[in-house]
Amino acid sequence: MSFPSHVRLVEVGPRDGLQNEKQPISVAQKVALINALSASGLSYIEAGSFVSPKWVPQMAGSAEVFQKIQRAEDITYAALTPNMQGFEAAIAAGVKEVAVFGAASESFSQKNINCSISDSLKRFEALLETAQQHGVRVRGYVSCVLGCPYEGEIAPEQVRSVAQALYDMGCYEISLGDTIGVGTPHKAAALFATVGRDIPRSQLAGHFHDTYGQALANIYACLSEGIAVFDSSVAGLGGCPYAKGASGNVATEDVLYMLNGLGIDTGVKLEKIIAAGLNISAVLGRETGSRVARAWHASAH
Ligand code: HMG
Ligand code: MG
Repeated sequence: MSFPSHVRLVEVGPRDGLQNEKQPISVAQKVALINALSASGLSYIEAGSFVSPKWVPQMAGSAEVFQKIQRAEDITYAALTPNMQGFEAAIAAGVKEVAVFGAASESFSQKNINCSISDSLKRFEALLETAQQHGVRVRGYVSCVLGCPYEGEIAPEQVRSVAQALYDMGCYEISLGDTIGVGTPHKAAALFATVGRDIPRSQLAGHFHDTYGQALANIYACLSEGIAVFDSSVAGLGGCPYAKGASGNVATEDVLYMLNGLGIDTGVKLEKIIAAGLNISAVLGRETGSRVARAWHASAH
């Protein structure tokens, strides 16, 4: 299969990127990050999550964040919602698109959302029915698709079955998450080929954490399988609090640099993402996790 000519980047920095940060990040700082990302040409920004503040304290201000961001007409600002309570809170905050998040690993499902895979699917089904009544689109995540911090290897068939269930209940796109970044390119491509047997590839997305430095190689392998949507996080921020060792998501800057080099259009301006990444890294008091941003910064100064 030939490479896609256009790729859609899903920016998960304000949510996946920040959710694991221990230090307080103010609503104003989150809003500034989202507004900066909005000016870069991105079409999709995951701006927060409506989860229990006891489980993920950093996302507690998401309603305020959604109320304060400057929304551009052509950008989707989405939020994670694990259950009906989260969905209702999201709608009240003016959220127009949500994402549910399941897992291919039973243990991870328990640790992350405190229920079994099958119970989570029942919750999501009810949520999707309500979302359809509100005209709200729902994206679906499957976590631990290439390995689980508690169970190790995960069978591709298990990923396929959870992805299929989410697709059948109405998720318009399924993002397959390598939560702990253990995947390698052939395994990633084979997984997408398996899941892509019954779900159109245009409705699949790749979500790669870069823990083992494999994320760009995995994305390249998925591009060759015809996958054209990838999640990434500005400055390579990120990690899931319930997956030890899940370091940053692949950096948006690095994905963009690779796609630009491959001649694949994204509509996103690299310099704007680099600037947004350097700003949030300064807020966090550490160096950006993007190698492209580091190289750009070193050569520009
Ligand atoms: P639970 O304790 O089983 O919930 O948690 P419950 O229904 O029994 O309710 C207990 C309490 O939580 C009650 O409050 C509820 O009101 C409250 P209390 O009466 O004790 O004061 N509660 C809520 N509060 C706010 N928003 C809600 C909500 N629901 C209940 N939506 C629950 C179940 C799902 C809520 C919890 O486990 C949770 O919040 N988990 C979220 C974990 C999370 O956000 N993980 C990170 C995101 S996933 C990820 O990063 C992976 C991904 O990036 C892809 C990849 O990398 O693979 C997407
Ligand atoms: Mg993630």
